[in-house]
Amino acid sequence: MLWNLYVFDTLDSTNTKAREYAPFSAVMAHAQSAGRGRCGRVWQSLAGNLNLSLVLPAYDNQNAPLLSFVAGVAVARALAPFPVRLKWPNDVLFNGKKLAGILLERTDDKIIVGIGVNVQQAPQGDLNYAATSLNGAVTAESVCQKILEEFEKTLAVFNEKGFEPIREEWKNLAAGLNEEIKVKLPLETIYGLFADITPSGAIDLTLNNQTHRLVTAGDVFLVNEGKKNE
Ligand code: BTN
Repeated sequence: MLWNLYVFDTLDSTNTKAREYAPFSAVMAHAQSAGRGRCGRVWQSLAGNLNLSLVLPAYDNQNAPLLSFVAGVAVARALAPFPVRLKWPNDVLFNGKKLAGILLERTDDKIIVGIGVNVQQAPQGDLNYAATSLNGAVTAESVCQKILEEFEKTLAVFNEKGFEPIREEWKNLAAGLNEEIKVKLPLETIYGLFADITPSGAIDLTLNNQTHRLVTAGDVFLVNEGKKNE
C-alpha cells in the first residue's frame, strides 16, 4: 500500500493537519470542527461521515489541477456499486445530489487532496448544492480504505500515461455531459451545452450562437435536474 494512514478523533481540518506530513501520507478524522470546502465555503462534517486528506508531492502548474480529476475517478470507483456521477470540477453526485466533495490545496512542496464523503448523513439547509448521503450503508473506514486503494491505482495511471485515460474515464462518469448546464462564474452566469472536457481540464461549453467558451473555474448546475439546485 502506497499510503501511511494517520487517524484522529477530531481535527479542525484534515487538510490543515495533512500539511505536517510527507507525501503519500493520508490523514483521516472522525470529526472536523472547521472543515473547508471550495471557494472559501464551510464543509459540514456530520457524525459518521468521512473526512480524509491525501498528501501528494508537488506537480507542475499544468498537471496539479488535473489531480482533481484523478481524485474524482478514484472516489467514484471506491463508491461502486453506488452509481455516482462526477460534476465538474470535482463533486460526486448520487441521485443528482452532492454526496462527496474534493478540495485540492497546494503548499510550496506538496499537494493536499481533501475528500469529504457523506457516508452517514447529509447536511441540510442553505447549501450551494443539495446534499445526500449513503445513510450508513457503508462505514467511513471502509470507504477510506477503498479510496486509498483506488487512488493509488488511478494516480499510477496518471503518472505513467498522463491525463488522457483519466479524462476518458472521467467523461464516462460525468454528470451533464452533452446536456445544457448553467455555470456560475464570479461575475456572471452563463448557459450552454457541456460539449467536452479539454486536455487541460477545462469545460468546453457551446453557447447558443454556436461559439465555444472554455471554463476554467466556476460552479456547474445541471439544468435538467430541475429547480432543486437553484
Ligand atoms: C467542496 O465540495 O467544496 C470540497 C469539500 C472538501 C471537504 C473535505 S473533508 C476532508 C478535507 N478537510 C477539509 O477541511 N476539507 C476536505
